[in-house]
Amino acid sequence: MTTILVLNGPNLGRLGSREPEVYGSETLADIGAGLAASVPDDIEIDLRQTDDEAELIGWIHEAVDRRLPVVLNPAAFTHYSYALRDAAAQLKTAGVPLIEVHLSNPHAREAFRHTSVISGVATGVIAGFGSDSYRLAVDWLLRAR
Ligand code: DQA
Repeated sequence: MTTILVLNGPNLGRLGSREPEVYGSETLADIGAGLAASVPDDIEIDLRQTDDEAELIGWIHEAVDRRLPVVLNPAAFTHYSYALRDAAAQLKTAGVPLIEVHLSNPHAREAFRHTSVISGVATGVIAGFGSDSYRLAVDWLLRAR
């Protein structure tokens, strides 16, 4: 069994009711169920969400230690969390893929969203395709394994 960690930062637990005109009407559970249904039987989707920076960093450390590929929506941490970037850099050093995803296209939004401190240590970035951003990231990980 290969596990893909799908990690989500602050406020993403509110998907479904949070600014649906920006983020769509699916909940995070809906997104997780869609991913689980789309992968082969030998792949486990381990989807997690936290509003806590320390917890998210701990999950990245776990991914480094277990060598688990990561799909990460860092949410607002994208734009300012050097601590999360430093954690993610350890995945790069370990040669473990990290795909940064966003439901919206941050570059088409407010100026503070135009900077990602995570992208420089990510394997790639997928943004602007709603929940399909996650699907595309998982598809790439499956093809790259
Ligand atoms: C987001 C974009 C971020 O700017 C924002 O803070 C989020 C969600 C996205 O998925 O579009 O919480 O990461």
